[in-house]
Amino acid sequence: MKGIILAAGSGTRLYPASLPISKILLPVYDKPMIYYPITTLMLAGIKDILIITNPKDTDNFKRVLGDGSQLGIKFSYAIQEIPKGIAESFIIGEEFIGDDPVALILGDNIFHGFGFSTMLKMTGLRTNGATIFGYRVKDPERFGVVEFDNKGKAVSIEEKPKNPKSDFAVTGLYFYDNNAVKYAKSLKPSDRGELEITDLNKIYLNENKLKVEILGRGFAWLDTGTFESLLQASNFVQSMEINTGMKIACVEEVAYRMGYISKDNLKELSKNYKNGYGEYLQRIVKRN
Ligand code: DAU
Repeated sequence: MKGIILAAGSGTRLYPASLPISKILLPVYDKPMIYYPITTLMLAGIKDILIITNPKDTDNFKRVLGDGSQLGIKFSYAIQEIPKGIAESFIIGEEFIGDDPVALILGDNIFHGFGFSTMLKMTGLRTNGATIFGYRVKDPERFGVVEFDNKGKAVSIEEKPKNPKSDFAVTGLYFYDNNAVKYAKSLKPSDRGELEITDLNKIYLNENKLKVEILGRGFAWLDTGTFESLLQASNFVQSMEINTGMKIACVEEVAYRMGYISKDNLKELSKNYKNGYGEYLQRIVKRN
């Protein structure tokens, strides 16, 4: 399975904080935001990842992430000239995807919760149809919203409905079989001029091939769209990391635990950081 991270937004809602650099490279506590979606894909067993950026920020992403070989994985890069919709990812990424199934994650989506790794691993093994994730929110009208029947089966999906039929938002993590490319090409721009990911999901829903996994109470799906929510995300990560002594979305740790790099590799990487981050990696080297 291939993975795509869509990180091409201009981030104007966070101006001037995101004027110098893409919002997706801003820190969420102790690491750049993009580490969170990267580790989500890695935990799903994905090693081949396309990062879609805007033309202005592409060099910064390359400088921070390189080709991925340091983590035993592969990063490729593509540009989205203007934000023409989330589903455009599959058109931009057509060649990269080839004949494989594909997972897409939005660069600003941060997930954390017990059992998430197992859920990702299982979803990554599914190669037929689509899987999306629903999360209960208090303001569903801001999101794609999924409605269920009384047996828990998804029956409708709407993008930013004025009168939401449920409280379940569709999160920015999507797994598709290879038809996603063909379906994305068949989409027409919406009223806001975008190729909507919700329209793609509707195709799978109509074909009876859409699975909606619910992320329950124990899960955190963090918003980073405003100054307040970005700071809250940092505070959340800090408090989890301090309380548990474990890092969230530490790319080097995940690479090691997934078996993508050796203990010696991890030891070398730890030397890049003369601080608590490096000490954390050292502790993992010694503990195992
Ligand atoms: O976060 C989940 C929501 O993401 C879903 O519930 C919605 O169904 C889905 O449409 C999307 O909602 P928004 O329309 O509010 O997403 P937004 O425009 O904020 O874009 C999400 C991220 O993707 C953001 O970091 C910008 C980036 N992006 C977006 C578009 C449309 C791109 O890089 N390129 C694009 O063309």
